[in-house]
Amino acid sequence: MPMRINIGKSAPGKDELGRLPLFEGLEPDRRAGLAGMMSEESHHRGDVIFNQGDYGDVLYVIRSDSVRISQVSEDGHELILIVLRTGDFFGEMSLLDGESRSAAAIAAEDSTLLTLRRTDFMHFLGQNPSAAVEMLRVLSLRLCRMDGVLEEAVFHSATVRIARRLLELLTIYGRDVDGGSLLDVRLTQSEIAEMVGTSRVTVNKELSEMESAGVIKRVRRQILVLDIDGLNDLAE
Ligand code: CMP
Repeated sequence: MPMRINIGKSAPGKDELGRLPLFEGLEPDRRAGLAGMMSEESHHRGDVIFNQGDYGDVLYVIRSDSVRISQVSEDGHELILIVLRTGDFFGEMSLLDGESRSAAAIAAEDSTLLTLRRTDFMHFLGQNPSAAVEMLRVLSLRLCRMDGVLEEAVFHSATVRIARRLLELLTIYGRDVDGGSLLDVRLTQSEIAEMVGTSRVTVNKELSEMESAGVIKRVRRQILVLDIDGLNDLAE
């Protein structure tokens, strides 16, 4: 996959950092110091930001828009672990555990990222307990979520898994429009399959059944949820 990077265009302002959950508890002068240590990278949709197994020396914070975190099997199959969006951070694990990247990061849309090098990150965490606690809170939520995903994969049908993932995506990308809620993100059936650990054929079959039942409508590469109660029923 091609990678196009544009580094260091503009450093973040301290006010911008204050709007990101990880940094909102910081005093303004600490934020200003941190802003001076960060750089910016721009990536096009589909660019690999890093691969699983790469050496990791940088923390990323998403300035805009979204990044998918995936594991890729030897035969090239991708399992999307999570889609992160503006304000989220990633790449902290290899900085904390000293291991290589546990997963790949791929730009899900054209995206701009803020980066912080390991030494600055470690110093920053040591100096700012509120940010360290916020990071632990997010890591705890991600662990809980993965427990749920594992439970789903073992105990639930593809219908339930797809319905749950659509509901989760709605909380991130949902937009009220005439007749329902539009999932305002371009998603291929293969990408949905990669999120729930099933095949594209199964996703196509399940979405067709949801469409026949009047729960969703496919509009080009987007999904319009017509019946949110129906989708909730399928997710149970
Ligand atoms: P790191 O291991 O440095 O590189 C891959 C990153 O993906 C990892 O840090 C985390 O930031 C993120 N990541 C890995 N697994 C998950 C997951 N299950 N949920 C959310 N983020 C993850």
